Amino acid sequence: MEKVILDVDTGIDDALAIIYAIESRQLDIQGITTVNGNVPLDYVTKNTLKVLKLADSNDIPIYEGAAEPYVREAVHEFKVHGGDGIGNALDDMAVSKELEETFAADFIIESAHKYKKGLTLIMVGPLTNLALALKKNPAIKDMIGRVVIMGGLVSNAGYGNMLPTSEFNIFADAEAAKVVFHKGLDITLISLDVTHQVMMTDEHVEQLNGSPYYDFIKNATDEYMDYGLKLYNKRQCALHDPLTVGYVLDSSLLTTEKYYVDVETSSPLGYGQTICDFRGLLSKEPNVNICAGVDSARFLKDFIGTLSK
Ligand code: BDR
Ligand code: CA
Repeated sequence: MEKVILDVDTGIDDALAIIYAIESRQLDIQGITTVNGNVPLDYVTKNTLKVLKLADSNDIPIYEGAAEPYVREAVHEFKVHGGDGIGNALDDMAVSKELEETFAADFIIESAHKYKKGLTLIMVGPLTNLALALKKNPAIKDMIGRVVIMGGLVSNAGYGNMLPTSEFNIFADAEAAKVVFHKGLDITLISLDVTHQVMMTDEHVEQLNGSPYYDFIKNATDEYMDYGLKLYNKRQCALHDPLTVGYVLDSSLLTTEKYYVDVETSSPLGYGQTICDFRGLLSKEPNVNICAGVDSARFLKDFIGTLSK
């Protein structure tokens, strides 16, 4: 089984991604690292603890990570992810699991040394933890296997979710993303261009009726889908983070092409934009696999089937 670390800012779709990764039974989850993002770090960690308990997976270690971005001030998305970040859907759940003592960035460093190219990083929050790990121990750039990142948008400019051309995970820590993109890692970017093609609707939620996750998903996604009315003119939510796990499970779900991609950090209007040099105008070595297409129907079938148990 593929050894993975899941780096999350739990978040509703992060919660779905964690459950999907666990229920796939195809990934050897070495640990979950948490990062400030959708909501502040203490909320993220608590939400992650609850999701692991819900999935009956308290054996998966949780490593707390960065409470602040690499350089910029923190931004949060309470309005999107509702209440505590998971729509208050697990308010009644008490959690007692202990966190690991190791800092998330150090856990990433240790794991990279331990598994060499046998480790895949699934990054579905701002990239702060990985940037900190690379800063502390640059040698890990040659030790990590795949880095699969939910973030950015490349060809669909204007359809961002923070600024017209910026996506949340990159916008929330663009300086960290810039560090990560230029270290020669094997990066695949699961951007809004493709995650906006995998939408969960009330019909999908109803297909989960009978699953142990049904109540949680129904409650957690209720307001999240209302936000879809604003962004997509339709009550639905994008499965950004689950699609990122989906790619790790089955890379044939997405078609990828490698280009030079950089991150804008200085323009107020374009802060956090992922700029893809499709035409090679900058004469730079390609550094990121971007996604050119997704088999949405096949992904949704697998996602719903897996969560149905
Ligand atoms: C990304 O930002 C967060 O709000 C989601 O969890 C996802 O990782 C989408 O832009
Ligand atoms: Ca996320």
